[in-house]
Amino acid sequence: MDDKITVISIIGAGYMGRQIIEKSALFGYNINVFDVSSEGLEEFLNEVKKKIEEKKVKIDINVYDSISETVKNADLIIEAVPEKLELKREIFPQIDKSAPPHAIIATNSSSIPISKLEDVVERKDKVMNIHFYNLFTMPLADIMRGTQTSDTTFQKGKSWVESIEVTPLEVKKECYGFVLNRIWRTIKKDCLKIWAEGYADLETVDKAWPIFCKYFITNDYGPFKFMDRIGLDVIYDIEMSYFKNSGLADDKPPDSLKDLVEKGELGVKTRKGFYQY
Ligand SMILES: NC(=O)c1ccc[n+]([C@@H]2O[C@H](COP(=O)([O-])OP(=O)(O)OC[C@H]3O[C@@H](n4cnc5c(N)ncnc54)[C@H](O)[C@@H]3O)[C@@H](O)[C@H]2O)c1
Repeated sequence: MDDKITVISIIGAGYMGRQIIEKSALFGYNINVFDVSSEGLEEFLNEVKKKIEEKKVKIDINVYDSISETVKNADLIIEAVPEKLELKREIFPQIDKSAPPHAIIATNSSSIPISKLEDVVERKDKVMNIHFYNLFTMPLADIMRGTQTSDTTFQKGKSWVESIEVTPLEVKKECYGFVLNRIWRTIKKDCLKIWAEGYADLETVDKAWPIFCKYFITNDYGPFKFMDRIGLDVIYDIEMSYFKNSGLADDKPPDSLKDLVEKGELGVKTRKGFYQY
């Protein structure tokens, strides 16, 4: 069956690989595993087997000692080895050589776009990024295409992510850091500067942050809904103030925001902004 994903092969069963194994197993997928180290793996898999028995899920979990054996009957392979481009570029062709032609190969990399790996495989239309956060406590995954990833591959990957009750975050074009990681990176970057350059104590930042986030959660706001609430004309002026202060091109608010302001689409107060009210 080419269309249905039933067998998942995980290459690299460390911190992330193990979460992917456990969650996929709990949702009824057969699992093949390969890792260069067997440390703690058997105990971990025994725990997973106990959990799936309790849930009366009937699947196979097999550990192999070569990549070729691990991927030979896979429908989807997820590479979760350390974040080293050269290592991933060594592993991808080995997977490609032995996996069935229909299988999709995904990397769980936190930063490497699949376009940096696609040239080492033949099946350039069947590779993608599936970047999980934490599968149990933050069930989100960025999904991103390479330059030749087919729509079928992307949709199959997306459906699989949904099937294990993880929310896929579609990245529309290649973006370093995907979506959420990129936003988080901006937050981290400025927190570190505020602390290191002595603008505020780190405790001040940590005190403010949960109060700030709670407001978002209570109101079911994302950044865009929040900006609509404030008013896009106000947001534009604030961003222009930052831009004038720094003079950095990167601080200039996008013209698309200016267009909305000029059209009078200012958010909640005009009943139209990023959203319609
Ligand atoms: N740690 C995180 O919070 C996190 C979150 C999202 C994505 N990621 C990404 O997931 C990937 C794995 O990260 P991790 O935190 O699970 O790392 P980890 O070090 O916990 O696990 C990596 C595993 O790969 C194994 N390995 C090393 N070389 C191998 C090889 N040649 N073949 C097979 N297995 C090999 C190691 O023995 C180890 O068990 C990285 O690309 C990382 O960027 C990590």
